Amino acid sequence: MNEMIKARASTAKTKTTNASGDHDQVLIFDTTLRDGEQSPGASMTHDEKLMVAHQLDQMGVDIIEAGFPIASNGDFEAVSEIAKTVEHAVVAGLARAIPADIDRAAEAVRHAKRGRIHTFVSTSPIHLVNQMKKTQEEVLEIITKSVTQARNLVEDVEWSGMDATRTPIDYLCQTVEAAINAGATTINIPDTVGYMVADEYYDMIAELINRVPNSDKAIFSTHCHDDLGCAVSNSLAGARAGARQIECTINGLGERAGNAALEEIVMAIRTRPDVLPFRTGIETTELMRASKMVANVSGFVVQYNKAIVGANAFAHESGIHQDGMLKNAETYEIMRPQDVGVKETSLVMGKHSGRHAFKEKLIDLGFDLGDNSFQDAFRRFKDLADKKKHVYDEDIEALVSDEATMAGESIRVEALTVIAGTSGPQKATMTLSVDGEHVTKEATGDGPVDATFNAIRMIVPHEAKLQLYQVSAVTEGTDAQAEVSVRLEENDMIATGKGAETDTMVASAKAYVSALNKLIARRGRVHAQKLEAI
Ligand code: KIV
Ligand code: ZN
Repeated sequence: MNEMIKARASTAKTKTTNASGDHDQVLIFDTTLRDGEQSPGASMTHDEKLMVAHQLDQMGVDIIEAGFPIASNGDFEAVSEIAKTVEHAVVAGLARAIPADIDRAAEAVRHAKRGRIHTFVSTSPIHLVNQMKKTQEEVLEIITKSVTQARNLVEDVEWSGMDATRTPIDYLCQTVEAAINAGATTINIPDTVGYMVADEYYDMIAELINRVPNSDKAIFSTHCHDDLGCAVSNSLAGARAGARQIECTINGLGERAGNAALEEIVMAIRTRPDVLPFRTGIETTELMRASKMVANVSGFVVQYNKAIVGANAFAHESGIHQDGMLKNAETYEIMRPQDVGVKETSLVMGKHSGRHAFKEKLIDLGFDLGDNSFQDAFRRFKDLADKKKHVYDEDIEALVSDEATMAGESIRVEALTVIAGTSGPQKATMTLSVDGEHVTKEATGDGPVDATFNAIRMIVPHEAKLQLYQVSAVTEGTDAQAEVSVRLEENDMIATGKGAETDTMVASAKAYVSALNKLIARRGRVHAQKLEAI
C-alpha cells in the first residue's frame, strides 16, 4: 500500500458501520432515479423507473433514491410504486427542509419494507446569502425542526448539507451535530458543485468524523458531482476517511457533468482491495445490463471509452496489446469482462428461431415481458430476422428496449418512404398513428432526415427544437441496426428518444416520435401541476 495512503487510512477515525455492524461494507446508495433523472433530457416514464428500480434492487443496491415526491404527481406515484414493489433495498424519497415536502416523502415511502426520508438544506455562505436569505443560526433551527419532523414519521432519516464542501468546517460541524441530535441516522456531505479534489474531501470527511461529538451515532455518506472529473476519486477518498455510504448513479448520470458512476466505484473497490479495503453488496455481473438499461431509458448514450461499461472498455486494438492478451489476459486487463457482465456476442438467433427460443433468449438477456409485449417483440424480431442475416444479442436488446419505450405512446410510426440522393429535393412520405388514427403527409427537406422530421411536424404540429441527433451502429456490418438518439426542447422542457432499425431513416423517425411522446406526456404533467397549484 502506498505509504501516504497507509498513514491516512490509519489516522482516519472510521467509527461508522453499516446497519448489520459490518465495518468494512460500504453501502451503495443509487440516485439514478432522482439526481440522474433530474439531468436535462434524462426524464423517464413511470414504467421505465420501475424497471430500473427492479434492476437496482436485484443487483444488490442498498438504498434506492426513487425520486422527489413533492416535485410532481408523477414523481410521487413512481416513488410509492417503487416503495411497494422493491424487495430488498431501502427506498428513499427526497424532501427539502419544508414540512409539506417531508410529509409527502413520508407518504410516498409509507409502504416500503424499509423506507427513508432524505431531507436537505443548504449550508454554504454563498447559498445562505444569495438563495436562502437566512442566517447560520436560522439554518441550524431549520435542521433541527426538519430532521425531528422526519424522524417522527420514519426511523431512517438521512440529512444532507447542500453545498457542504463550500461550507466553513466549523459551521459544517455544528450543522452535522444538530442533524444527528435531531435523529438523523445518515449524514451526507454533498460536493454539490463538484469543486473538491480527493485529498481535500478526505480531510473534510475525516475532520467531521473526528470533531463532531455524536458522529458515532450516524453513518457518513459521500455525494460527489463530476464537474472537475473527480467524483469517483473523491467518493473513494471519502470512504477511506470513514464514510460508509457512497451516493452514485448508473453511468454517472446526473445534474450537469453528472454524479460519481456506480459501476466505477464498485469495480474500483473490488479490483483494489489493497488500497480500498472495503466491500459492497453489488453483483458486479449485472453492471453492464444496468448500464444498458439506463442508457436506453434515459437516451444518454454511453461514451465508447467510458470506464467499465463503454463499448471499448475491454477492446484491445494495438498489436502489442493483442499479442500480450493472447499470451496472458492479465498483461493488459485488470478486470475480467465477464465480471462486469460483458458477454461475447452470441449469434444464435435467426429467422428459423421460434417463440420458445426467443423467450429463452429474452430471459437470458434479463427481459421479462408481459404477454402482449412479448407477442409484439416476437413479431418485430421475425421482421428483423427477415431483413438481417445475423441477429445478435445487442439487436434483440435494442429491439426490446424499443418495444418497452413504445408501450403506452400515443404517436407511433406506421410507415415511411424516403427519396434521398444527389438530385434533391429529398422527400419523405410518412404515416403516423395518432391516438389510433392513421395520418399520412409528404414533406421535403434539406436531406432525408430533415424531410422525415418535417413530415412528423406536419402531422403533429409542435414548437420543439431539435437539440441533438446522433446515430450509432448496434453491431458491425452494413446490415447492422442503426440506433438513433434524438433530443428535443420545448419551453425549457427537454426529452430524449431512441429508435433502432436496420433502416436509419425509420430509426430516426422512431427516435423523434419517442422524444415527442415524452414531451407531450411531460406537458400534461406540468399542466396538471399548474392546475394543482391554483
Ligand atoms: O448535489 C446535491 O447537493 C444533492 C442534494 C439534494 C443531496 O443532490
Ligand atoms: Zn446531487
